[in-house]
Amino acid sequence: MTDHLSEPLLLKKRGIVVKNRFMKSAMSEGMASGTHAPTEELIHLYEKWAEGGAGLIVTGNVMIRGDALGEPGNVVLEDAGELHLFRKWAEAGTKNGNECWMQINHPGKQVVRGLVREGQAPSAIPFAPEFQRFFAPPRALTAAGIDEIIRRFKRTASLAKEAGFTGVQIHAAHGYLISQFLSPRHNRRTDEWGRPIENRARFLREVCRPSARRSERGIRSA
Ligand SMILES: Cc1cc2nc3c(=O)[nH]c(=O)nc-3n(C[C@H](O)[C@H](O)[C@H](O)COP(=O)(O)O)c2cc1C
Repeated sequence: MTDHLSEPLLLKKRGIVVKNRFMKSAMSEGMASGTHAPTEELIHLYEKWAEGGAGLIVTGNVMIRGDALGEPGNVVLEDAGELHLFRKWAEAGTKNGNECWMQINHPGKQVVRGLVREGQAPSAIPFAPEFQRFFAPPRALTAAGIDEIIRRFKRTASLAKEAGFTGVQIHAAHGYLISQFLSPRHNRRTDEWGRPIENRARFLREVCRPSARRSERGIRSA
């Protein structure tokens, strides 16, 4: 029987060859320093993951801004201040000829009470009463606030690339900001970001759009 799992996988669009079919999925580590940078322990963990031999390693979710944390101990990449530590992390995570992609995320309103004062969301729909003691109350984003977060996603992706990560994965699931935009329950906006699925998906499409291209909204992304 052919061992397909050991065969390389070509990702045609970018010409990336993943050396085998094993992937380590994103798992939030909660191992950042007090300044939300990668610690030696986190770097060591990724050295071990790489030695494990998977063709693709995806990091746990890294937040795109320090005032929007999903959990204590989240890594944040919003500026080049501690990029040397991200370089060490990327070097460890790719040491076995494998891909190492940084998963990047904004939690939206899914932010822990006590850690963050208020959540940001497409609409100010509160959590169900049984969850309200865990999560900070949400505020609806302005159009300018939405554009700012899109710019931040692109900035974090470009810093990840500069640090040596071979890709990024955009977290669009698990009830975080992008999935809040996609959801007709959590997104009740009546502007270009809400109502039909084409509008609810606009935020995700704008986050993923390559920076150099002019968007259909006439805004040049950062
Ligand atoms: C401790 C833990 C942390 C996780 N953190 C993330 C995360 O940061 N981002 C993400 O997309 N999924 C996260 N997940 C989900 C996993 O990537 C995976 O999708 C999930 O565990 C289902 O796969 P499984 O059935 O093999 O466990 C996490 C899962 C666990 C157990």
